[in-house]
Amino acid sequence: MLAELNTAVFAFLGAELHAVPAGLLHLDEGNTDVVASRFGFGSRYLQRSNAAPLDTSALRLEGAVPGSEKQIAPPNGLALFGAVRDALPDLWGRRVIENKLNVPANSLRESDYMRHAGSNRFGALDFRDTPESEAEDGLLVPVIHLSYLLDSADRVQRGEHIPDSLALLFQAGPTMGGARPKAVVVSDRLQYLAKFPALGDAFNVPVIERATLELARACGLDVPTTDVVRIPNDSNGRDVMLIERFDRSAIAGGWARHPVVSALTVLELHESESQNASYAALSDRMGRFAAHGRVDADRAELFGRMVFNILVSNDDDHLRNHAFVWHPQARGWALSPLYDVVPKPQIATTRRLHLGVGKQGRLATLDNALSESGRFGLARHKAQEIIERISAVTREWRTVFNQLGVSDAECDKVATAFRKPRDVGLEAALN
Ligand SMILES: Nc1ncnc2c1ncn2[C@@H]1O[C@H](COP(=O)(O)OP(=O)(O)OP(=O)(O)O)[C@@H](O)[C@H]1O
Ligand SMILES: [Mg+2]
Repeated sequence: MLAELNTAVFAFLGAELHAVPAGLLHLDEGNTDVVASRFGFGSRYLQRSNAAPLDTSALRLEGAVPGSEKQIAPPNGLALFGAVRDALPDLWGRRVIENKLNVPANSLRESDYMRHAGSNRFGALDFRDTPESEAEDGLLVPVIHLSYLLDSADRVQRGEHIPDSLALLFQAGPTMGGARPKAVVVSDRLQYLAKFPALGDAFNVPVIERATLELARACGLDVPTTDVVRIPNDSNGRDVMLIERFDRSAIAGGWARHPVVSALTVLELHESESQNASYAALSDRMGRFAAHGRVDADRAELFGRMVFNILVSNDDDHLRNHAFVWHPQARGWALSPLYDVVPKPQIATTRRLHLGVGKQGRLATLDNALSESGRFGLARHKAQEIIERISAVTREWRTVFNQLGVSDAECDKVATAFRKPRDVGLEAALN
């Protein structure tokens, strides 16, 4: 049965504490999936001098006509706008909401997930019944409650209902995307994404993910502040990774929320098409919407991230694991800091990334990376410098991990993920 739903889309602008109505979203929904959607900007929103675009394509401000709803359709025949999908919970967040409502997996409508995701969601959008609706209070959970959150996350994974006494996860849990268990926490006026261990992990993912992000920082890549917290009283002595949110910053009285879009939205693709895309295609597209003066640096950074992913065998580099943040002063989008980089131990010698790397498709080698370096705005010698620099640091990964307190036993579990640069075409790339 088809249901029609109108929702007011709100946007947080600049350093303002309260969101303003941006327009009306119309959804046609089947039993679970959105079948079609339309959006229309409100006239007052378009008159604001600090209005931000809602995405990099269909919901840009250029050419936007105010007034009647239902004017704009998602690009490329998509049912839902990418920017709206980016602001909704996907795998993990859905499990938390279903646990709260005591319903089976994937049984709710998209609009139900939208309604229950809370207002700490990714980026600067909010969804309310009408343009007059009051904001829902988006409570933030202090980091000292991590052990309760971890306990609740375990229960969600085991399919056990969370008792009211532990229901903090319902405030901190359903807001962000991704598959792994996570929650948003606040500490010293900063907001963090807390990433938990998952039941059945083959190694200490929070500790290894954090160390890999720090290795990326040592390579000169742009990484948010990270930390690892050992949970006191946890019978298994488990750890949680914290990564500072790049879509929030503290301002007097609260937080500014920065507009963000995933690379999936930027390339106007459906989730199922992510693997057909490439780093070079993303770099090409960045030329259209990048913040003034940022595009060269961002393209070089993207190239560096691809090289890093090759060297640490992070093949979960899909299009929702890259994002862009709106910069109000520059009135353009810049590549977000790096997130979700986990080495994948394996035996295979021929490896592929999720996204296309170069002329040999997704093949994870350095010479393949170099083959399309021109599309990242890089002269050959500049691309070679980046490859050399990142290879030199990742070669020493064990030392960096040990300095961060990662045990040898834990390093051994992921050692096969780290490629010797010469085994992945370093010589061919440097000649
Ligand atoms: N530091 C951050 N600041 C703001 N948003 C973030 C940050 N890190 C991740 N996110 C957002 O949260 C989502 C989920 O985070 P992440 O990708 O780390 O989780 P995951 O469960 O490991 O994902 P996946 O399903 O890709 O394995 C991301 O897709 C991104 O939208
Ligand atoms: Mg992810």
